[in-house]
Amino acid sequence: PLYQSMLGLSELEEKLRKAFGLTRVVIVPGDSETSDRTRRELGRAAGQVLRGALKPKDVVAVTGGTTIAHVANQLTSPVALKDVWFVPARGGLGESLDYQANTLASTMAKRTGGHYRLLHVPDHLGEEAFASLMQEPNIREIVEVIRSARIVIHGIGDAMVMARRRKLEREEVEEMKADGALAEAFGFYFDRNGAVVHKMQTVGLRLEDIVNTELVIGVAGGKSKGEAIAAVMRFGHNDVLVTDEAAALEMVALL
Ligand code: BG6
Repeated sequence: PLYQSMLGLSELEEKLRKAFGLTRVVIVPGDSETSDRTRRELGRAAGQVLRGALKPKDVVAVTGGTTIAHVANQLTSPVALKDVWFVPARGGLGESLDYQANTLASTMAKRTGGHYRLLHVPDHLGEEAFASLMQEPNIREIVEVIRSARIVIHGIGDAMVMARRRKLEREEVEEMKADGALAEAFGFYFDRNGAVVHKMQTVGLRLEDIVNTELVIGVAGGKSKGEAIAAVMRFGHNDVLVTDEAAALEMVALL
């Protein structure tokens, strides 16, 4: 093991599970920030959790990001999941195609024999554009499917890193910083207590949809993400967390 922790991994899992009121925590050994192997293990472990949870007619909303890309690229199913639908949780960030939610939803569907629907809309929209897009029957239909998801699987990021990736305006970023933004998940920003400090209008999943989703699976690892992951767990609407040892030790130190 990379870390000389006083606790075994299963004890760590139980500690975090209780502290954050989750139904399940899975920790893979190592630090995905520095180890490719841990990154892949994190993806594989999350894929197993997801596959084990799937039921017929499920809609699964997936976010983008490099972590969920590892999940998607390793997901397998021994039988074709013919009536499971994979959809992006939100619109595009304008990032590399490899990490976009649309791409990951289609990869997951292809790898499991399921179906997918795509959302061809940027995530950051002005009010007018938002209102007129929502008038489009095609878009409304896919948005309804997304918002009906029984399962959400998402990455977690550092607020400032994600603000840059999402190309937020400088003023917005300064405001968020002043409000204590520390973590980002599915386009929302959280302070250390898990309070939402910044949100924007989205055609995808809104906060109320996340709150009402039956199974929310967070997947994130790496020492530097520990604080951000803890913040999102304090938001209190996750059911499962899949993480790595390095992030878990950071989280335990914050309890
Ligand atoms: C984004 C997700 O695409 O990826 C976020 O919408 C998440 O929920 C972020 O915070 C994490 O990215 P990565 O590359 O660090 O896994």
